[in-house]
Amino acid sequence: MQIVHYPHPALRWKSKPIVAIDAALRNVVDEMFKLMYSTKGIGLAANQVALPYRLFVVNVTGESDEKDQEFVFINPEIVRKKGSEEGEEGCLSIPDLYLPVRRAEQIVVRAFDLTGEEFEMKLDELPARVIQHEYDHLDGVLFTDRVSNEAKLEAAPVLADFEARFRKAQSALEIPPDAELKRRLEELEPRQKTA
Ligand code: NI
Repeated sequence: MQIVHYPHPALRWKSKPIVAIDAALRNVVDEMFKLMYSTKGIGLAANQVALPYRLFVVNVTGESDEKDQEFVFINPEIVRKKGSEEGEEGCLSIPDLYLPVRRAEQIVVRAFDLTGEEFEMKLDELPARVIQHEYDHLDGVLFTDRVSNEAKLEAAPVLADFEARFRKAQSALEIPPDAELKRRLEELEPRQKTA
């Protein structure tokens, strides 16, 4: 498992809901937490590891020993949003780019945990921001889509650099072509097992 960078097609994928919580999924979550900590992140969405699942992991402390701060959000829904606040964001899929993003100040999020239990959380400040950022990933939305026009201008050359690097790696056959990457995503999409 590794984090994919802009403009990998997984980052533009609208993911389908997870249909089963099993050992394989628990394993994915374990690996995602490890990867998140090793890259100094505080949130990581399945799209960012090229998995088309509606799932993300969060630990706003970024500390692997703070286990009680680890949360897994499966098939999340943001059911309420209140207020508006600007704050700086970055993303593990577009490293070293930080821009102000306007988000709801307070949210209520509902999701399933790894035991299949539904839970609801009312959040504000950093946790609210992180969850809105990660939730966007599941719909193929990046934080750079949500910035001011001014910040978009600032981001443009950085994104162009990432794009050039990605296309170069594809030309060198280090990364498969987009069509192949999309085929893999389709293949991995959760689907109900039929008897
Ligand atoms: Ni991100």
